[in-house]
Amino acid sequence: MKLINIALDGPAAAGKSTIAKRVAEQLSMIYVDTGAMYRAITYKYLKQNKTDDFEALINSTELYLTYDNEKGQRIILDNTDVTDYLRENDVTQNVSYVASKEPVRTFAVKKQKELADNKGIVMDGRDIGTVVLPNAELKVYMIASVEERAQRRQKDNELRGIDSNLEQLKEEIAERDHYDMNREISPLTKADDAVTLDTTGKSIETVTDEILTMVKNI
Ligand code: DC
Repeated sequence: MKLINIALDGPAAAGKSTIAKRVAEQLSMIYVDTGAMYRAITYKYLKQNKTDDFEALINSTELYLTYDNEKGQRIILDNTDVTDYLRENDVTQNVSYVASKEPVRTFAVKKQKELADNKGIVMDGRDIGTVVLPNAELKVYMIASVEERAQRRQKDNELRGIDSNLEQLKEEIAERDHYDMNREISPLTKADDAVTLDTTGKSIETVTDEILTMVKNI
């Protein structure tokens, strides 16, 4: 198979990372979760008591990705593996704000472009098809109803032993989407040449197969 990059964008909790991981595995490609980078920077922002000097925050930040055979992508922030903290509620509540800041985006996008230089990458996020990998061989824009996305998030939380309220999850997801779609710098939007894939009511296997078929047809 020729070497390609796949860009997977879409709103919060649309199942992008679950699908991206499976597609990458099936095609022996590397999965890159760009949201985790913004989450790591947010983690540091919170540790620094929400100081709003993003230029200084970025200038003092070292961030890189490593891969663990069992655990997958790990995020190393200032020499510490912070991956296990990145799904915490505090981080989720603040990440859209932090990700809207210019120094943060410039820093993260540069790293993401470098990672994809040699191809063979499945990358998920919000601006992958539009900004990070505008020449990706396949671009998919994944959507699902807010109701279903909240239900999936609730199940995820259950598996992690976290109690959550469905209505509250719906509100949080809708709020994050609104922020991500309306920020000034590279907002979440479908690239003109992306294929829209509505995953509402579809199983993980079905969605994975649909993308694998798209790859075959490139
Ligand atoms: O995919 P996620 O939920 O881990 O992403 C967390 C936040 O990071 C999301 O609300 C917006 C931001 N993000 C972004 O702005 N650009 C990306 N490429 C990925 C994530």
